[in-house]
Amino acid sequence: MQALKGFKDILPDESPTWQWVEATARSVFHRFGFGEIKVPILEKTELFARSIGEATDIVEKEMYTFIDRNGEQITMRPEGTASVLRAFIEHNLQARQPLTKLYTIGPMFRHERPQKGRLRQFHQMSVEAIGSDHPRLDAEIIAMAWQLLAELGLSASLQINSLGCPACRPAYRQALLDFLAARQDKVCDDCKRRSATNPLRVLDCKSAHCQEQYQGAPMILDHLCAGCAEHFAAVKSSLDQLGIPYGVNGFMVRGLDYYTRTTFELLTNALGAQSAVGAGGRYDGLIEQLGGPKLPGIGFAMGMERLTLLLEQQNGGATPSQGIDCFVAALGDAALERAFSLLHALRGKGVKAAMDLEGKSLKSQMKQADRLQARYTLILGEEELAKGEAMLRDMATKAQENISMSADNAAMATTILTKIHPEQK
Ligand code: HAM
Repeated sequence: MQALKGFKDILPDESPTWQWVEATARSVFHRFGFGEIKVPILEKTELFARSIGEATDIVEKEMYTFIDRNGEQITMRPEGTASVLRAFIEHNLQARQPLTKLYTIGPMFRHERPQKGRLRQFHQMSVEAIGSDHPRLDAEIIAMAWQLLAELGLSASLQINSLGCPACRPAYRQALLDFLAARQDKVCDDCKRRSATNPLRVLDCKSAHCQEQYQGAPMILDHLCAGCAEHFAAVKSSLDQLGIPYGVNGFMVRGLDYYTRTTFELLTNALGAQSAVGAGGRYDGLIEQLGGPKLPGIGFAMGMERLTLLLEQQNGGATPSQGIDCFVAALGDAALERAFSLLHALRGKGVKAAMDLEGKSLKSQMKQADRLQARYTLILGEEELAKGEAMLRDMATKAQENISMSADNAAMATTILTKIHPEQK
């Protein structure tokens, strides 16, 4: 049996990198005032149709949707924003503070064509800041994404755009429709269909032939109303103030329909066709559209598979040492018995410890200590134990020290702890 196509096991060797990415993200998010929310994987299909948009690739052809045993139409979440906002509205979270900052980490599901960095079950770290439309918040959110990449030791290029608002988008849409009308017979069937349902999306068509036709297409940036133009200028100046470099890409259209004003993508050319490690934007009308209060919001999500792939490519996924603190080696039955209790006591004191439960040869035990990258090995020999002694070996320097053994395992564990973590004395 094999896992489904586009679904991947994350193996024990890969887990430390994943854990490090997640811990780094949590640390950054907490510093910026975000709290964690966990939302269900299954939601009513309608939630995604109403937020992401009926005429998007995600809703039209990528969702895992099914009828459950009660006859209800259910979808496995393709992204986090819709569920987080549903929870925000349902639990009245805006009452808590002027700005509600939430993050969620977990699996998302999209039936896409799998390739490097693109899976059908993938993981996002997704953040939402609700309650302000101030451009400084846009810069703060982008700065948080930037900070996270910096702390992971990764670099990406930032592209930003503004998609306007309900006041300026209709005029742009008309200008785009006029432009597209003259090219209808030269573009692919998908684009023809999209021109009627979701014209902005045609600019994102992957066909080089279609892209040629769209050279010189009108850009939303040239059609922004005064309010949106001022907002976008202020976002840029706040990014400048924080020293975050960006490029303006007037043709950036996101794959989700809920965006207004600022959108952004963090791109890398190290992942082949999948260039975005993270992306997001503002969604000022969405909460109201989902039946909640009239509150603006902005957020982004980073793809964890793409981040871990980049880390592996850059430095073999190097993260803090995965080795253990202390291997307890024992020679003879009595020593083995003693080692087993001591092992338990060491773990109880917070020491990452291991031993060979079967009591193989000393040579084999030392090999295990090496394989586990033990920083220290405590060697318990029958004769030494009888004299009340054991030997602690520093595996890096090979320095050895005799330590006296008391009968009390907890006290012994404390003695060993102070020797191998001198800072905790
Ligand atoms: P998105 O651009 O659809 O936005 O996805 C965000 C990130 O998730 C992408 O940049 C990518 O790193 C990762 N990703 C998306 N699809 C896949 C896939 N099939 N395989 C692997 N990684 C993938 C959103 O989902 C929005 N909810 C972001 C947001 C939050 N906007 C506002 N708040």
